[in-house]
Amino acid sequence: MTAQKENNKEIYILAIESSCDDTSAAVMRGDTMLSNVTASQAIHEQYGGVVPELASRAHEQNIVPVVDAALKKAGISRNQLSAIAFTRGPGLMGSLLVGVSFAKGLAASLGIPMVEVNHLQGHILAHFIKEEGVEHQAPEFPFLCLMVSGGNSQIVKVNSYKDMEIVGQTIDDAAGEAIDKCAKIMGFGYPGGPIIDRLAREGDPKAYTFSKPHIPGFDYSFSGLKTSFLYTLRKLITEDENYIEKHKNDLAASFEATVVEVLMDKLYKASKALKIKRIALSGGVSANTALRAAYADYSRRYKWDIFIPKFGFTTDNAAMIGLVGYYKYLEGDFCSMDKPAFTRTTL
Ligand code: KG4
Repeated sequence: MTAQKENNKEIYILAIESSCDDTSAAVMRGDTMLSNVTASQAIHEQYGGVVPELASRAHEQNIVPVVDAALKKAGISRNQLSAIAFTRGPGLMGSLLVGVSFAKGLAASLGIPMVEVNHLQGHILAHFIKEEGVEHQAPEFPFLCLMVSGGNSQIVKVNSYKDMEIVGQTIDDAAGEAIDKCAKIMGFGYPGGPIIDRLAREGDPKAYTFSKPHIPGFDYSFSGLKTSFLYTLRKLITEDENYIEKHKNDLAASFEATVVEVLMDKLYKASKALKIKRIALSGGVSANTALRAAYADYSRRYKWDIFIPKFGFTTDNAAMIGLVGYYKYLEGDFCSMDKPAFTRTTL
């Protein structure tokens, strides 16, 4: 590596993310994001959830234009790229294969190295993405990160860029999955998270009480809460078939508040037990208004230093993959062509 490259000015990483239903490409100069282009897939809305086969097909259509747009926006040509970083997993196999195959083909044709990135590490390290002209604040190590998305709910102790330990995790549904199911039960579209968030802002979070999980340690469970919501609603609908429409705001607010309370309770216990007060948030559910408000509240009450990502870095995006890719590039941690995608993993 040349001195200039160590200076991080000349390292350009193209990153590709295709683990679920967002096709995303980003160009990083070192740890600074130059572009981050994402094509979302509206097709799944009509099915009430991601249909894996349709997601793969949409990735195939989107990947070339998204990569071209990311390079163009960054003002970088393919020949200037130092490496290609890509999400190797976890995620949907068909979706991952599109990004992985594209990354392999492009890296081989350009004769540059590939860097494999774990999608979950990407979410957790999204706090370290820098942007030109934007003030940046990243947590010091070690910190705790609540990683809440459609597929995962974990409390992670982050010791360094590479060293992460899962302190607690869901034993069944993820928080985002539970919120999406709550929206589906009420007859709303997919993804339900933003819909529940919007409705909840006008509702009373104390209007209904749903049963909360009693799981030992720092683990989570959301399937019982979902069932409690379903049974409560079934009973209410028999009394008035228009019940949901009349009470949707209170229902959404009460369900959302219970999810947030469960998430924060274990996070607080983990923070206390591990004596760590630097607390980050990541994953798609970190866009949630009530969860962000709870972070601010705990920060005031318990003197936490909180780190909440920008909205653009909460959901799936390639910049977070590029950031991890950059750190691995600096260590010469490259990946060979024979590495397959993987669907499930721990950190
Ligand atoms: O991280 P992400 O984009 O995808 C993965 O699952 O990897 O997270 C998507 C999840 C979905 O469950 C979606 O409903 C939820 O994040 N979500 C929200 C909000 N925005 C997205 N949940 C609650 N409130 C939101 N504002």
